[in-house]
Amino acid sequence: TTVEWEAESYDMGGHDTYMHKEICEQPDAVDRVLRGRIDDRFNTVHLGGLNLDAREARGIRRVKILGCGTSYHAGLIGAGLIESLARIPADAEPASEFRYRNPVVDPDTLYIAVSQSGETYDVLAAVQELKRKGGRVLGVVNVVGSAIAREADGGTYVHAGPEVCVVSTKCFTNTVVAFALIALHLGRIRDLSVSEGRRIIDGLRRLPAQISEILESEGEIKKLAEEYADAKSMMFIGRVRGYPVALEASLKLKEISYIHAEAYPASELKHGPLALIEPALPTVAIVPDDELLEKNRAALEEIKARSGRILAVAHREQEKADHTIVVPKNEDELDPILMGIPLQLLAYHTALSLGRDIDKPRNLAKSVTVE
Ligand code: AGP
Repeated sequence: TTVEWEAESYDMGGHDTYMHKEICEQPDAVDRVLRGRIDDRFNTVHLGGLNLDAREARGIRRVKILGCGTSYHAGLIGAGLIESLARIPADAEPASEFRYRNPVVDPDTLYIAVSQSGETYDVLAAVQELKRKGGRVLGVVNVVGSAIAREADGGTYVHAGPEVCVVSTKCFTNTVVAFALIALHLGRIRDLSVSEGRRIIDGLRRLPAQISEILESEGEIKKLAEEYADAKSMMFIGRVRGYPVALEASLKLKEISYIHAEAYPASELKHGPLALIEPALPTVAIVPDDELLEKNRAALEEIKARSGRILAVAHREQEKADHTIVVPKNEDELDPILMGIPLQLLAYHTALSLGRDIDKPRNLAKSVTVE
């Protein structure tokens, strides 16, 4: 199914910027990517556009995801979802790197190209190189009928609707949800049980209301953004599922506020970046209530011991943090989707308080269609 974009979707709808409008559209956007795809009888999803029958799906030995910028970050979360739900080894790589390193193209690997615009040249060139070498490539794309969608052997549209702001928000979220659907689909063909399929479906259905709940805390996030906006640099940390969330949040902050930001796996702090920690370098920490909670708390202690300021995004107040943004809990695998949302608002309000041109940040274009 395809969703037609109506002319009125380009209207600002009472918002001051497209970015704000697009952040607020996320409950509806997520609802749209789920619509018509869930099969409650077999606890799976239908993704006809993948053009992959059950036997072919069973034959996949690896998944390699390619994209740039925010789409690459969505791909990193996607790879984690595919590994955990479908138990297929999966990883993501910037398409801009992949295309220049004469990659070994393996017929048993499923390649997935991710792009909001479907026109990013580095991604398109990677797809063309893969196809020339006989690779099977799917597209996870937002713009219907775009170059990458046409070039791919199949795929799925993410149905985020038009995204006008140069920085991606709702499309990132919808792309990650689309990956959850692909992972669930592959998982249910392989070893994911009926009850595990149910658990993920129930979690997916909870997302739109939980995103609305997060958006209601905008006032609180705005105050925090104003408090941290004087920072010259910020550190973002997360572990395993939380690390791509940290990467994406740091990119968002850089793009629109021009504040320098670094993202590191929390586990890597002691291997170098801990040297940077001091009161002038605040850390944003992703701290979900999952099997890594105690490990993440230990990282907060390390930072606190060096007088670093900490803003945590967590499922409950974190004692070691100076501030905690509490988000609703979903299934562990789907938590990254929700933890990214308050950090979009944090970047937004930081940029707003610094008087930046949010929808058109300097030096950037919405889609990079050249080398
Ligand atoms: C997102 O905020 C960025 N402006 C940028 O990283 C973008 O995600 C990247 O250029 C890829 O674009 P695409 O998804 O349209 O391929």
